[in-house]
Amino acid sequence: MIHISSDAARHCIHLSNGRVSYVIHFAAGRYPVHIYWGKALRDVQDNTVVRRTGRKSSTLDLNETPLDRLPQECPVFGCGDMREGMLQARHADGTEALELRAVNYRVEDGKPELPGLPSARGEGARTLVLTLRDEASGVEADLNYTLWEDTDVIARSAVIRNTGSTPVTVEKALSFCLDLEDSDYDLLTFQGAWAREREWTRRPLVMGDQGNGTVRGASSHQANPFLVLSRPGCTEEAGECMGFALCWSGSFLANVHVDQFRAARVMMGIQPFDFSWTLGPGESFTCPEAYLAWSGEGLGGLTDSFRALIHGHLTTGAYARTERPILINNWEATYFGFDEEKLLSIARKAKEMGVELFVLDDGWFGKRDSDNCSLGDWTDDLRKLPHGLKGLSEKIHAMGLKFGFWVEPEMVSPDSDLYRAHPDWCIHAGNRPRLENRNQLVLDLTRPDVRDYITETISAAIRRADADYVKWDMNRNINMIGSAYLPPEKIRELPVRYILGVYEVMRRITAAFPQVLFESCAGGGGRFDLGILSLMPQGWTSDDTDAWMRCRIQYSTSLLFPPSAMGAHVSAVPNHQTGRVSPLATRAAVAMGGTFGYELDPTKLSDEEIEAIRGYNRRFRDWQKDLFYGRFLRLRSPYETDECAWMTVSPDGKRAAVTHVYRDGSPNEIPGLLRLRGLDPDADYRDTDTGAVYGGDELMYRGLPLYGRQGDYSCRQFFLEKTEEA
Ligand code: DGJ
Repeated sequence: MIHISSDAARHCIHLSNGRVSYVIHFAAGRYPVHIYWGKALRDVQDNTVVRRTGRKSSTLDLNETPLDRLPQECPVFGCGDMREGMLQARHADGTEALELRAVNYRVEDGKPELPGLPSARGEGARTLVLTLRDEASGVEADLNYTLWEDTDVIARSAVIRNTGSTPVTVEKALSFCLDLEDSDYDLLTFQGAWAREREWTRRPLVMGDQGNGTVRGASSHQANPFLVLSRPGCTEEAGECMGFALCWSGSFLANVHVDQFRAARVMMGIQPFDFSWTLGPGESFTCPEAYLAWSGEGLGGLTDSFRALIHGHLTTGAYARTERPILINNWEATYFGFDEEKLLSIARKAKEMGVELFVLDDGWFGKRDSDNCSLGDWTDDLRKLPHGLKGLSEKIHAMGLKFGFWVEPEMVSPDSDLYRAHPDWCIHAGNRPRLENRNQLVLDLTRPDVRDYITETISAAIRRADADYVKWDMNRNINMIGSAYLPPEKIRELPVRYILGVYEVMRRITAAFPQVLFESCAGGGGRFDLGILSLMPQGWTSDDTDAWMRCRIQYSTSLLFPPSAMGAHVSAVPNHQTGRVSPLATRAAVAMGGTFGYELDPTKLSDEEIEAIRGYNRRFRDWQKDLFYGRFLRLRSPYETDECAWMTVSPDGKRAAVTHVYRDGSPNEIPGLLRLRGLDPDADYRDTDTGAVYGGDELMYRGLPLYGRQGDYSCRQFFLEKTEEA
């Protein structure tokens, strides 16, 4: 039962779903300050903002105790708070002061739409909309707080409105601020690079600024819009922690500032660097939604809450809660060097292996024999596919396989008919030379004609191919920011308008083809965020398909994203990114930690390998729903040990799958015990392969025997089922 109550005498609003509480107080009756977020409280009797003032904040004199000392819900620049704020606006006279006072609040069932932005659905939710107003300028801000019955996540977003009579330029529009009482936390961030995305990095907070962010125009390989604060000593299963994730795919800022009182201020939102947005009278700007999860049961508790949010309220489309086809993608098998016969030979063999979907990657259109041409020309290359996408798709479908293909709709190659016809359709800075990256330029998605062109050409290709699946790639970031369409005063709006344009075309195309499975990609995991996930239920996690590297990448990614969101494939050895050779069984076990498929040439596999693969496919089909939608638990970290282990408990609690991978085979090791979690201590579980039976208590408190190490990158998988007697 969601409860949003106000207490006029204490100037408080208390939001609770019975498990967590969030309490806001109005200092001096008008400035919203943060009192509490954590385990559910019955009530807050005392609203002293202890650490900062030692006084009841309702009696504060703001001249004596400026906003600088208060833990605020919506700090702004220019009116007493000397720390970085959440909002900043420049008025027509050039001044920047804002004094936002609470003027109103309302409670709604569900949650408000955020126009143009992806956001979670509001079933089973209630929302507090708190309105603040700067009387002198007429600038207003709505702060939205949504709570759900079934997950301990609070969604926060903000809408800035100009109700005045002159234009206002918004210089900073972050989605939320959370001012904590102290800074006794570790900070976890997930930064990386191409092929080693989202490295798990944990360090104690220190005074000053720390965090994460990007100015690349995409959430990026290098950063991820996700932060965690955990109390020192917090583990996977115990301790207090908070997770903050942004539903936004462009440049962002995720910052934690530890101030003069050693209190932490967490803020996230659209990157303010190189951003501004002018609001004419009556206009408004909506900030993307952020999700704040609190757990008193360790990092695993955050994963549980985010999973409930993602599966229950965020992902959309026919595949959001279902099984997905096991796929084979030809990229690492052929790169650009294929013809129809080669593709059909891969598909035939894949069908024999038990694969269900054939995916044709880059190189099928224009005259694309390498990455130096044809992006934007979404016409079939009849040299490689004499019967076009349609002919190939018909043959693949006739084999009993589904068919899908790759596109990179946001890009244009200078060597393309599209570029020759519309040289002004790309992002470019006036007459300066256009800076290419991977031989390509970024289309200006602020332009309606570009958005229509993408929607029409990609839709035509999907129809022509009668496609069941589309992989939507994006392989470069934005620089030389400029547009032949936007007027000079709106160029600083371009990075945001670009992402709004991406969302619009994605929404139009996915809505037109509800039966198609869409997988996002950005040179691997270069735009792996909740914004894109809300439009496409799975994303290519990384171009690194090496099993051990994938253990690291998937382990850290799993803190926020469930396996159903993580594209993962078995590839050939030596691995194309690392040169490493790992056993087929390990590559398969690691790919089962995600959406599962293949990225290799099956015509080059031995009969034994094909037979083994048939077994993996049978296993995955049997367990897929449990692996995707069950409870995911991290058991051993590849960032702290030379092992990686995780498990999934099925939604009905009757089955559990456990995977354990070793990095180094080391001689004369004593067999270890792997403690499991999330089982029923009173039940017995049977290993479905060996028939061995263990008590749930025994598996959790003593551990599962792993036997000896078997060599570099070896792995063990256990598939356990509750015995009937239990
Ligand atoms: C980058 C992707 O991550 C790869 O999987 C592949 O699709 C290539 N692009 C194709 O150019």
